[in-house]
Amino acid sequence: MRVDVVTIFPEFFSVLDVSLLGRARRADLLDVRVHDLRDWTHDRHRTVDDTPAGGGAGMVMKPEPWGEALDELLAGAEGVTVLVPSPAGELFRQPLAREFATRERLIICCGRYEGIDQRVVEHAETRPEVAEVREVSLGDYVLNGGETAALAMIEAIGRLIPGVVGNPESLVEESHEDGLLEYPSYTRPASWRGFDIPPVLLGGDHGAVARWRREQQEERTRRMRPELLDRDPEAPHA
Ligand code: ADE
Repeated sequence: MRVDVVTIFPEFFSVLDVSLLGRARRADLLDVRVHDLRDWTHDRHRTVDDTPAGGGAGMVMKPEPWGEALDELLAGAEGVTVLVPSPAGELFRQPLAREFATRERLIICCGRYEGIDQRVVEHAETRPEVAEVREVSLGDYVLNGGETAALAMIEAIGRLIPGVVGNPESLVEESHEDGLLEYPSYTRPASWRGFDIPPVLLGGDHGAVARWRREQQEERTRRMRPELLDRDPEAPHA
């Protein structure tokens, strides 16, 4: 998968060199290219923002550098998914990560300030190289820009690409994969500071272990996230 990220803070993405994703990039499973939006400006100050039409606080990202960035990154491409992190977007949940992990090419447009001029999204939707433009929110809180959200999405999507996570079975038994939270995990020693591993996990009865884990998942989900129990796990917006 190729992922192009456009940002005014390319250095934000240096963490992609470490851990599993760093290995995936070196193994050519994940081709992440980070671009500085200011490379598509033409004035001496490399201006990317301006005051909001209609008035109000803050600044809005100008459409021209974004248009030129997309012109260049989309040249000769087809079927590209453009992601625009935004607190006003659809919620990024595990089904969306699974959906985006099937794509060949993503372009992530990281806005700052009060966001990007909306015409950038509207224009991108009309382009023949673009399969879809998705405005996506990491959660119901406001970040300073799309960069942190882009990093989280790259990690959530990237680890679903075959080969990125060494043991694919570890992807199956995780929080949100079946619509429930994950069961608690333990390792040796059997007793630590007066706290014991639940005996069923040491008894060797695989059926009993599976039943206990399922009960734990249900109990945890009821306690922490009761709203998940009323939802179809495959419905991204339910
Ligand atoms: N940019 C600012 N806040 C955001 C959020 N919650 N999700 C995605 N992008 C954002």
